[in-house]
Amino acid sequence: MSANENNQDVVTQNRNDKVFIFDTTLRDGEQSPGASMTLEEKLQVAEVLDNMGVDIIEAGFPIASNGDFEAVQEISKLVRNAVVCGLARAGNKDIDRAGEALKPAQQSRIHTFISTSPVHMKYKLQMEPHEVLDAVSSSVTRARNFTDNVEWSPEDATRTEHDFLCRCVEAAIKAGATTINIPDTVGYTVPEEYAALLTMLREKVPGADQVIFSTHCHNDLGMAVANSLAGVSAGARQVECTINGIGERAGNAALEEVVMAINTRNDVLPYWTEIDTTRIARASKLVSAVTSFPIQYNKAIVGQNAFAHESGIHQDGMLKHNQTYEIMTPDSVGLKESSLVMGKHSGRHAFRQKLSEMGFELGENAFEDAFRRFKDLADKKKHIFDDDIEALVGDEVAHADEDIRVEAVTVIAGTGGPQKATLTLDIDGRHMTKEAQGNGPVDAVFNAIKEMVPHQAKLLLYQVHAVTEGTDAQAVVSVRLEENDKTVTARSADVDTLVASAKAYVSALNKLMLKREKSAPETLKVS
Ligand code: KIV
Ligand code: ZN
Repeated sequence: MSANENNQDVVTQNRNDKVFIFDTTLRDGEQSPGASMTLEEKLQVAEVLDNMGVDIIEAGFPIASNGDFEAVQEISKLVRNAVVCGLARAGNKDIDRAGEALKPAQQSRIHTFISTSPVHMKYKLQMEPHEVLDAVSSSVTRARNFTDNVEWSPEDATRTEHDFLCRCVEAAIKAGATTINIPDTVGYTVPEEYAALLTMLREKVPGADQVIFSTHCHNDLGMAVANSLAGVSAGARQVECTINGIGERAGNAALEEVVMAINTRNDVLPYWTEIDTTRIARASKLVSAVTSFPIQYNKAIVGQNAFAHESGIHQDGMLKHNQTYEIMTPDSVGLKESSLVMGKHSGRHAFRQKLSEMGFELGENAFEDAFRRFKDLADKKKHIFDDDIEALVGDEVAHADEDIRVEAVTVIAGTGGPQKATLTLDIDGRHMTKEAQGNGPVDAVFNAIKEMVPHQAKLLLYQVHAVTEGTDAQAVVSVRLEENDKTVTARSADVDTLVASAKAYVSALNKLMLKREKSAPETLKVS
């Protein structure tokens, strides 16, 4: 069922009321420290976004690194329905690189931007306003050589002087931009002000009626979604957002919140999107898994508690009628209760069926590995739930192509000290074993790994949480490492917290090595 059938009467949908969903999880989202994804992970996310009905997928910033270029190119080959977009600053090299990466796409867009606020022009660009204005025209003209679908953004638009902003937007439209995005780069605006800015631009700028205006709101003051919706009410028809609201600093507007607000409050937000909302939960879990960014428990729409009713009064009301305390159903966002799955006697066929119900399509080898791990888990854990299967399969997929793998872990811990760990790693097919001591068992495990894979990376985060309830629950361990300004996060699940710790640490090292290989000397960031 499509979102349209799902949520509103198709007959009443007016083309002018469609809000295009531009997802930037793979670009602005991936830029947040520690959220980096491997190529394989980016492809998985792109496929989920494409299948859920996202209109435009911003796949990366091709000039930023060889890894980003390759990701945009591979996503361009993969995506079937959405427009694939690449980001470029206002320079020929950037734009040509984006054009090159997008070549295989069935539908492509170049998104080019330059700062327009006084503070950005003076200190960041060190350019005069007239030079910026020239760059607007020349960058959009250059991008139009590659595609007739060009988006232009004035970075830090909400702190830009209005007359100058109008002149820049007019220049971009004259040069052939088809979408004008108005970024609240630093998350500074408020809904009324942002709506007024869009109204002013739409009324004053010649040619404004020929383009689509877009919102791009950061969440520094917690208003990214409110600002985006205010922008839509003022005539914007594209919203830039990310799954789980990930992104620079406090993040971007959350896709799931924007879409569900439009669906649930269609009486006051009379717009529609193409998003199949029943795929939201899956997308959210995937993005959380591949970035290792946990979802806060009370996060709107996708948090663990978003549909939980704990207090007696609420539970009583819910039992009498679910609309007493529920404005949307868990089903509408694809959330199902984590049901008791199967036991150790369940066979291959039942396991395959379960995976397919949960939306996992595994190749034969990956399936066999997942089945073996399921059997191991069933030996150790009495009840296995959907969440266990999800953690297990997510782990299998995330670590499938790693060059270094954990083979065995033995730990001596307890009050006696010193704590010791003996680890065996498979490094490119070669087995190596080392023993090390540490201040506690986790430290000992990490020290043993460091002896075999020497590195200078700094540990920024070590976090453990349980997948389900009970003392036999699987632990999910997240590890974030930083080396030469590059940050990676990885996570792993196991009933043994120390095994999960070893696997998460090794996985983060694998990611760092990939980053070292793929980074070009010139790496850069925008929000
Ligand atoms: O926040 C911002 O200004 C951006 C632009 C590149 C659109 O991400
Ligand atoms: Zn941004």
